[in-house]
Amino acid sequence: MRAFAFAFAVMALSGPLGAAEQPTAERPIVIKFSHVAAPQAHKSLAAEHFKKLAEKYTNGRVRIELYPNSQLYKDREELEALQLGAVQMLAPSVSKFGPMGIRAFEVFDLPYIFQDYEALSAVTEGEIGRELLDKLESKGLIGFAYWNNGFKILSANMPIPTPDDMLGVQMRIQSSKVIEAQMWAIGAPPQVMAFSEAYHALSTGVVDGTENTPANMFNQKMSEVQSHVTMTNHGYLGYAVISNAEFWNGLPKDVREALERAIAETTPVANALALKENDDALEEMKKAGGTTFYTPTSEQRAQWIAAFLPVHKEMENRVGRDLIDRIYAATGRAQGH
Ligand code: LMR
Repeated sequence: MRAFAFAFAVMALSGPLGAAEQPTAERPIVIKFSHVAAPQAHKSLAAEHFKKLAEKYTNGRVRIELYPNSQLYKDREELEALQLGAVQMLAPSVSKFGPMGIRAFEVFDLPYIFQDYEALSAVTEGEIGRELLDKLESKGLIGFAYWNNGFKILSANMPIPTPDDMLGVQMRIQSSKVIEAQMWAIGAPPQVMAFSEAYHALSTGVVDGTENTPANMFNQKMSEVQSHVTMTNHGYLGYAVISNAEFWNGLPKDVREALERAIAETTPVANALALKENDDALEEMKKAGGTTFYTPTSEQRAQWIAAFLPVHKEMENRVGRDLIDRIYAATGRAQGH
């Protein structure tokens, strides 16, 4: 009943897809681009950059409407809304595709799968990244590009310098079975929660800690309710820029090409904005003084890696052994780090 009501509500919002037929500057195609990040976050800035380019390259025949901060939909709902045609573009975290049945995307969640940004871009800008985006077609979606956020760190309301300190620490996570397994690997009970609910859960003690990038921790004020952070940089958080395939394929060819050009040109800008924002956020949180930022010693770092690496093997049936091995090969990484 609830699902039906939701579907009905988004369909009422969506308007006719056929409005895409004869676009003019007076009667433009409207693309609603919804996301969960804060208005000042780099995802918002990247979306604004895309909007500018898209409207310019289509000579105003397309109008991009941006809806940040979960104001239209939360995590799972936004994917449903896109499938139903209520919005036309999203940039969700790739960790959120697993529950839709596209489990291969959860390969990005494997802890320590990417040593650094170079290894990451070998996948997101290479053949493997493209093949993964193509898998979205089976869900009526079309994927264009990856926009990075960054590497995740761990936070809690107690010191957590080593994996042993995580036993029993309740952690908010995104909806990924791989991240769930990662938390269980260190004995930290995970709780899946929408991004928009994380701050409240941390501030009221529903959970003790979480993992996220410095930018997300800062923008959501999570650091204000977390006393300790450990700089594990253990996992990737990034976005796939996606649309509804039926909507996209129904656009005039020249419009499609202009929009695809705008996305492609936004990608390096989005990635640069993310890098800078993560650095700035870390600095700001340190300056605020309420949270202790701890960098593990090389011995402790080895402990984190040893605790997390078994998750690669444990999750191989879910994300695919072949895919994991192809990523090892593409990133020049020896088996098992
Ligand atoms: C999260 O849920 O932690 C992130 O995926 C949110 C985001 O979009 O950065």
